[in-house]
Amino acid sequence: MALHDLVASGPDTLAAPRYRAEPRYRIAEIRAADPLGADPLLAALPAMNAVADVRALSVALRALLPSTEEAAAFGVTDALAAMRDLGVLLGSLKRHGVQPLDAVPEALPVLRRLARRTDMVPRDTVHHYTAWNPTGRRQRMYTGDPMEGRLQDAVRMVFPRLVACLDACAELARLEPYDSGFATVLDRIGALAGAMVDSIDLTVARVSPVFFARELRAYFEEIDVGGEEYLGPAAAQVPLWLVDLTLWQCDRGDADYDAFLDASVRYSLPSWRAHRDAHRGGISAVSKLSAAFSWEGPAAVPAVLAASAEALARVLKVLKTFRARHLTLARKAYAEEVRRYEEGSGGAPVALLRTVLDLTRDNETLVRRPLGGPTP
Ligand code: HEM
Repeated sequence: MALHDLVASGPDTLAAPRYRAEPRYRIAEIRAADPLGADPLLAALPAMNAVADVRALSVALRALLPSTEEAAAFGVTDALAAMRDLGVLLGSLKRHGVQPLDAVPEALPVLRRLARRTDMVPRDTVHHYTAWNPTGRRQRMYTGDPMEGRLQDAVRMVFPRLVACLDACAELARLEPYDSGFATVLDRIGALAGAMVDSIDLTVARVSPVFFARELRAYFEEIDVGGEEYLGPAAAQVPLWLVDLTLWQCDRGDADYDAFLDASVRYSLPSWRAHRDAHRGGISAVSKLSAAFSWEGPAAVPAVLAASAEALARVLKVLKTFRARHLTLARKAYAEEVRRYEEGSGGAPVALLRTVLDLTRDNETLVRRPLGGPTP
């Protein structure tokens, strides 16, 4: 399958009737929106960045800025598109050493208004930069380099499938491993989460870690918005934690990963934050299975339980595969001889990725053990 097919087919997942009511899932509409008339100016953004033209960037930000009244009158899809378009200018100014709101203070009330309108943070996130970013001629890019476009595509393609995972995870949380539906739902989650593996494979094949480290990373720096720091549109905001949460993280977490999630969750959509609040005190699928296995004792495991455990182990293996390949890539991009920053753009070191990979693997091992056979 070509990259184009993966990216283009993504939004179809969100065409289902149950998703239509949520404006943040109307990807095609948000991509098509240009409420600030930003298309011509943003086409010139890579050229401005190439020569570090801070003056032109500040003028562009000022020129695109709507009044607070206009911002308040936008519907949610237009407000998301407006934040997307102001956002690439914020990140560009910061990349050249300028706090964007020092250069253009009048942007502060507008960012706050857009944040309120969309119920999101007062700057752009990875979703603005990828899923909600148009493709083709209108694609908003910092550098214009094809590798930047491929990284955007790689992240873009996972968004609709993680959204679908959210529903499946909520369904899983209502089931017990003795239900035959437990394995069925897990298989659905595994198939959707497989997009993460495709995504990282495409990234490894088509984005050089040196390009990321030397050219792109600097655009994802945090900025000051009214005295508070907000991170840039980092891929680390991709909500894979939505899947971890019900599988194992809600009651088998780890202090470092929990702290990372606590800091990252605010960059996500309101319904995902609500999902986390609803499920964070729950019993994970791994814990439910462990309890069922202890109850059954070492005698023959009931077939339904074995099927549940096998399905859970398969999903954990998908997550492990993504994380192992992602870690190898991240190590290259943050190797001492290439890196310009010690920490990832999501605010955490590469060491965190090792921790999360180990946790994923430990949970997979735990689930597989009662089934016998080789440990992964
Ligand atoms: C050049 C490409 C990439 C590099 C160098 C990279 C690097 C990193 C680093 C250093 C972290 C730790 C947190 C932080 O950023 O502060 C991280 C986290 C993360 N990244 Fe990436 N990343 C890349 C591409 C991707 C892609 C394409 C995806 C998915 C579509 C992705 C998804 C994630 C996720 C979900 C996390 C949170 C930790 C986890 O769940 O395992 N990354 N990344």
